[in-house]
Amino acid sequence: MKKGFKILAIESSCDETSCAVVVDGRECLSNIVSSQIDIHTRFGGVVPEVASRNHITAIDNVVNLALEKAGCTLNDIDAIAVTYGAGLIGSLIVGVSYAKALSYATKKPLIAVNHIYGHIAGNYLSHKELKPPFVCLVVSGGHTAIILVRDYNHHEVIGNTLDDAVGESFDKVARVLGLGYPGGPKVSAMAHGGCEDIMFAKPNESLGYNFSFSGEKTAVINYIHKLEQKGEQVPVKDICASFERWAVDELCTKTIKACRENGMDKIVVAGGVSANTRLRSELNKRAKEYGIRVYFPDFEYCTDNAAMIGSAGYYAYINGVGIADMTLAPKPSLSL
Ligand code: KG4
Ligand code: ZN
Repeated sequence: MKKGFKILAIESSCDETSCAVVVDGRECLSNIVSSQIDIHTRFGGVVPEVASRNHITAIDNVVNLALEKAGCTLNDIDAIAVTYGAGLIGSLIVGVSYAKALSYATKKPLIAVNHIYGHIAGNYLSHKELKPPFVCLVVSGGHTAIILVRDYNHHEVIGNTLDDAVGESFDKVARVLGLGYPGGPKVSAMAHGGCEDIMFAKPNESLGYNFSFSGEKTAVINYIHKLEQKGEQVPVKDICASFERWAVDELCTKTIKACRENGMDKIVVAGGVSANTRLRSELNKRAKEYGIRVYFPDFEYCTDNAAMIGSAGYYAYINGVGIADMTLAPKPSLSL
């Protein structure tokens, strides 16, 4: 493979329209993210139809800006990568159709990328020396999983959520407390200085590497409703701190167990919840006791962005994986 292989990557799986130019899977020349958070906030969550319409409006400008910022034209691009799942069908269709059209018009190869493998690759942009094998904790709005990443394209899922994803449960707790969308950062900010001793649910010790967040979430919601019915003050800060402590504890305990039991010495965290400061400090602290090194993506690569898709696309392409053509169709429920 020639040096300086440039990928133009497109991400539109949820409510961010993003385009990036990435060189050799590791160097990001541009990463434009147009977020729709302001649009969806008033509905308390992402409205799929509204999201797809806004992707259509944004995508042309976002792609042009990414090329401009990278100092490139389409002629300088070697391949086009796009998220084809998992995600919202209407949102995925916009990115996939755009990428197919670009690939057809420019005769450049098209690479189909799994959104979650993209999140993992966000770490390759932040840590130039990082290479598999490692244990990956995926924590996003739609997924919570522990994956043994044996090689760039060899992912073995050993733990999964049995119900809600961790980001989703942060969002639901935020909603019931009236904190707004997206809930993770809001709950986390509120947790600061709160008392973390409210016991909503017990740790899920019996689930092996699997997670369950719905019991805790429901216990939090019931706790709030009971206080409201009695006309008592809802201790928002304490609820946020206790919920966050519980969720972070679950994630850390299982990931470290998975790392030790599978003979790995590196943990990589991926997905939107990797921005959580408590998760960052707690996992670092606990892993250190076992000599395990922990990697988190830089904040710009935590939540949805196209640069991570460009990195994953590169490692797929050089290994002959994910090469797509005009028959590529979005897969909303694409598994890991
Ligand atoms: O990976 P992502 O951007 O989108 C999906 O692929 O789902 O993750 C979004 C999720 C949301 O649920 C959001 O509330 C959560 O990540 N999140 C956080 C934080 N920042 C984003 N959760 C906890 N603490 C944060 N600081
Ligand atoms: Zn994501």
